[in-house]
Amino acid sequence: MLSLCFREFYPEGQMGKLIIIASGKGGTGKTTVTSHVGAMLAAAGHLTVLVDADAGFRNLDIALGLESSVVYDYSDYINGSADIDDILVKSFDNENLYFVAAPQSVATTDFNEDRTAEFWNSLKARFEYILADAPAGMGDGFMFGARYADEAIIVSLAETSALRDADRVISELEGLRVDTIRLVLNRIRPELIDRKILMNVDDCIDALAIPILGIVPEDDDVTESMIVGKPLIAVDGYGAGTAFKNIADRLAGNQVQMMRFEEKKSFLHRLRSIFSHT
Ligand SMILES: Nc1ncnc2c1ncn2[C@@H]1O[C@H](COP(=O)(O)OP(=O)(O)OP(=O)(O)O)[C@@H](O)[C@H]1O
Ligand SMILES: [Mg+2]
Repeated sequence: MLSLCFREFYPEGQMGKLIIIASGKGGTGKTTVTSHVGAMLAAAGHLTVLVDADAGFRNLDIALGLESSVVYDYSDYINGSADIDDILVKSFDNENLYFVAAPQSVATTDFNEDRTAEFWNSLKARFEYILADAPAGMGDGFMFGARYADEAIIVSLAETSALRDADRVISELEGLRVDTIRLVLNRIRPELIDRKILMNVDDCIDALAIPILGIVPEDDDVTESMIVGKPLIAVDGYGAGTAFKNIADRLAGNQVQMMRFEEKKSFLHRLRSIFSHT
């Protein structure tokens, strides 16, 4: 049984923020965004926990390299067979980063509502940021986190089908009174925007009518990092590592200019076309 000692973080009564990472369409990069933005928040000194809310299809543990450390999952807390400290797994790489695994098979509809609320509240009492990696769509796994979320990050690709699905999720979140909903556009490839295969950033923002939190380029380092567990670092002001760091900084309330890809020399001549108004 793990025994974790949390430093006093909050003045009495203050709670951390639950941010759900959602999309309509599958495979847009929710788990990728959760793991890297979470790691960047923790690296900046924020006590952060990442919750895999994708019950049945969990894979955030693998993205974090923690799969062999998982003993309990949140169903064990919700059904009363484990304490909150038992289900928290500490990252090997960062003392501010923790992880809570999803059950492999238990349906979240079987969860007692009061215990579910207690689960999220226990995390909010211990951590500054709680990032919940939701499954695609708006099913039970999405509702498990969405009903308690303070904020949401919608991860979309710059293409019509992903944006349309994202729009439905945004309406659902608005109905649940999640008042801060921001957009991350992932896997942006300026050359495909040039060729009008992907939509440009301004058109995506206009289509969803929510503020943009970040733009993440397609980057082979993301694939490598997922497969061999190599942490992404923010280098030279470009690439996905920098994009994730910028997103973490903006979440923490810092003003950070939107990455415009101009730092990467091969993108320079394409810069103008990824935004319509520059
Ligand atoms: N910026 C990026 N550059 C390159 N590859 C990326 C990028 N973002 C995500 N990927 C890759 O896209 C694939 C899907 O990403 P991920 O698993 O994070 O999506 P997801 O939204 O969590 O999927 P699901 O809906 O199945 O949970 C992964 O192989 C990941 O490595
Ligand atoms: Mg996922």
